[in-house]
Amino acid sequence: MNHNTDVELGAAQLHRARELASQGQWGEAQPLCEAAARSAPDLPGVFEFLGDLQFRLELWEPAARSYLAAIARAPHNAVLFRKLGDLQRLCHDHEGAAESYRREAELAHAPLPAGGTDAAASYLELMKDCLTFLLWRASDGPLLELNARRPLVSFARMLRKIGLWRRTPPISVREFGMDWPAQALTMIGKKRLDNIQTCVERVLQDQIPGDLIEAGVWRGGATIFMRAILRAYGDAKRKVWVADSFRGLPRPDSDKYPVDRGYDLSMWRSLAVSAEEVRENFRRFDLLDHQVVFLEGWFADTLPVAPIDHLAVLRLDGDLYESTMDGLVHLYSKLSPGGFAIVDDYYSAPPCRQAVDDFRRANAIQEDIVRIDWSGAFWRKQ
Ligand SMILES: C[S@@+](CC[C@H](N)C(=O)[O-])C[C@H]1O[C@@H](n2cnc3c(N)ncnc32)[C@H](O)[C@@H]1O
Repeated sequence: MNHNTDVELGAAQLHRARELASQGQWGEAQPLCEAAARSAPDLPGVFEFLGDLQFRLELWEPAARSYLAAIARAPHNAVLFRKLGDLQRLCHDHEGAAESYRREAELAHAPLPAGGTDAAASYLELMKDCLTFLLWRASDGPLLELNARRPLVSFARMLRKIGLWRRTPPISVREFGMDWPAQALTMIGKKRLDNIQTCVERVLQDQIPGDLIEAGVWRGGATIFMRAILRAYGDAKRKVWVADSFRGLPRPDSDKYPVDRGYDLSMWRSLAVSAEEVRENFRRFDLLDHQVVFLEGWFADTLPVAPIDHLAVLRLDGDLYESTMDGLVHLYSKLSPGGFAIVDDYYSAPPCRQAVDDFRRANAIQEDIVRIDWSGAFWRKQ
């Protein structure tokens, strides 16, 4: 058998093992994962997952061997040292555990590897300032658009915005992503872009396998920034998936999703940005290439069939219960352990929060939710 066939076989075995494990069939998943590690020992995450399965099955020595094999392949991955430390502590190897936890802490605070230069850091700061229009002190102001279904209310709001606009909105509005900008390429603001940077840098540093995705991109700014981070760190393998209808939000289906009732943003033309316009926005920063993949259409249609193997960062920004739940149901199982789930509207859109809470409850997700700002939240998958 040639190398490529081995890798394909290993990937298929690992995929099946993950499926079995997600159904609680640890005993069946373990030998399959062992076979995957034999077929393709360099497959990202294979030894870590084998260790996780053996840990669950209380096969302590094999689990330790698997984590050590994983560490040999990814020596900067702090999560692996934590897992090894937990195992050693359970086996009363307190000295070994202390050493593993020390390595974990050291790596978690270590300076970033190659690519983390001053020039790269300055490039990323400049990107954030350009994408938010903060470089120009947010002087583009908020979008002005009449809502066709509620013209009077909308007109009154527009007048208020013009007042704000004349005075040029305070910088903090854009730092915290509190307006729909007239020209800036993202509405999520600087703090949530900082959070994307932290998460992507952490998965690069820890060598967590997988691509990056945002479901709900509008003008594309957050995904352009994801691609810029990969460029800054010289990562030529991971993809950035850009998922959107590119024609705005769906009308709420309140029979199927009652909590979406009253959250109808489908009539806002300014939320419908075409795929060609988003591609052009990538081009403006010289960031449109084979590592950027567009998924055009409603999440319910595109996400279940998207050819994504693993994700390291899953960012959801679809506002509605339906859109958030579609993202979680179809993508969360692809998020690697050590990867990040980011939800843009957790604190600002009740339907979105409800979807996250329902999904976490149904899937017994225990990881703590961390607040980013008045709107966004994230957690790191264990
Ligand atoms: C608030 S905007 C995203 C803002 C963006 N993340 C940024 O950086 O500025 C919401 C986007 O989600 C998309 N969207 C919402 N629900 C969707 C669905 N079910 N399927 C496809 N696209 C959806 C809309 O088209 C819109 O572009």
